[in-house]
Amino acid sequence: MAQTPKPPSERGIGAVAIRWHGSSLELLDQRLLPGEEHWITLEGAVGVAQGIRDMVVRGAPAIGISAAYGVALAARHAGGGDWKAEIKQSIRELAASRPTAVNLFWALQRMEQVFHQCHSLDEAAKRLAKEAVAIHEEDLAANVAMADHALEFMAPDKPMSVLTHCNTGALATGGYGTALGVIRRLNEEKLLREVFADETRPWLQGSRLTAWELSRDGIPVTLNADGAAAAILARGEVRWVIVGADRITANGDVANKIGTYGLAVLARHHKVGFMVVAPSSTVDMSLASGSDIPIEEREGMEVREIRGIPLAPEGVKVFNPVFDVTPASLIDAIVTEKGVVHNPNITGMRALFD
Ligand code: MRU
Repeated sequence: MAQTPKPPSERGIGAVAIRWHGSSLELLDQRLLPGEEHWITLEGAVGVAQGIRDMVVRGAPAIGISAAYGVALAARHAGGGDWKAEIKQSIRELAASRPTAVNLFWALQRMEQVFHQCHSLDEAAKRLAKEAVAIHEEDLAANVAMADHALEFMAPDKPMSVLTHCNTGALATGGYGTALGVIRRLNEEKLLREVFADETRPWLQGSRLTAWELSRDGIPVTLNADGAAAAILARGEVRWVIVGADRITANGDVANKIGTYGLAVLARHHKVGFMVVAPSSTVDMSLASGSDIPIEEREGMEVREIRGIPLAPEGVKVFNPVFDVTPASLIDAIVTEKGVVHNPNITGMRALFD
């Protein structure tokens, strides 16, 4: 693992999603952005699980990090009785919060391994907190390493425009970003002309979070409706579509925010590069292909209305899968902190992750 990188604040990154205080966890309520910056303080795993389910915190790595802190809180505040049973129950509750991002299960598995080595509650409280902080710091280091690998791979010779989907920045990760980390680095190196940010219906991660995060950090962003992506790519200015991932399977298929698959089809049609950027904690070599990934479906209300304002006839039937699967054949590169899988397939994935 790379050295601990500079903290986000020293890199000019304004957005922070997760603050750990030892006996409590603060989550920036992402449901209220960009209008309000409100922090929620949590002292137990049940509250963290609820926060993940309700999207107070979201984005695959940030979900994993928050869950890890949730386990640490469970140990810190366990009662005097059967502390092992209490922590196990907390892990189960956290695991049931959201199904698609494998970072959640990866982080819980790491926490569980440490938990099984502990002989007393006091030891568990100390070691689980330390492990959660390590997961958080390692994610930040991985973000920075991915940006290094991506720039080396793209080798841009002049400033370029890129298009992204959803939010993959400081709000979704340990603090720098996956796809948005690469975009940040392009900007730091003066190699970014402009980022087009899909608004990302229905939850609007692109308009509410990405446009907010990039604007406050002075990165040139243009917001577009999802349906405008084809027209933008047809103009020929965008060189790369850069997105994150929630789960990557052994053959290189990628689950990411709904709409990603369509973008990959568009990118191939317009001969635009399609890059997926994700830490190795997003890779799930136990699943053969994307068809094995559990895809979360959320309430129809998220499509029918926005903050109580109706956008559709009351009660109309809605299909609301919040992730889709992009087949490996449409992906030019998967960038992780371990390196780049070019034209991903099972052989390339195994070379890096087995
Ligand atoms: O439903 P969300 O907001 O948790 O979905 C987030 C995404 O799909 C991101 O693109 C993905 O988690 C990568 S975040 C670095």
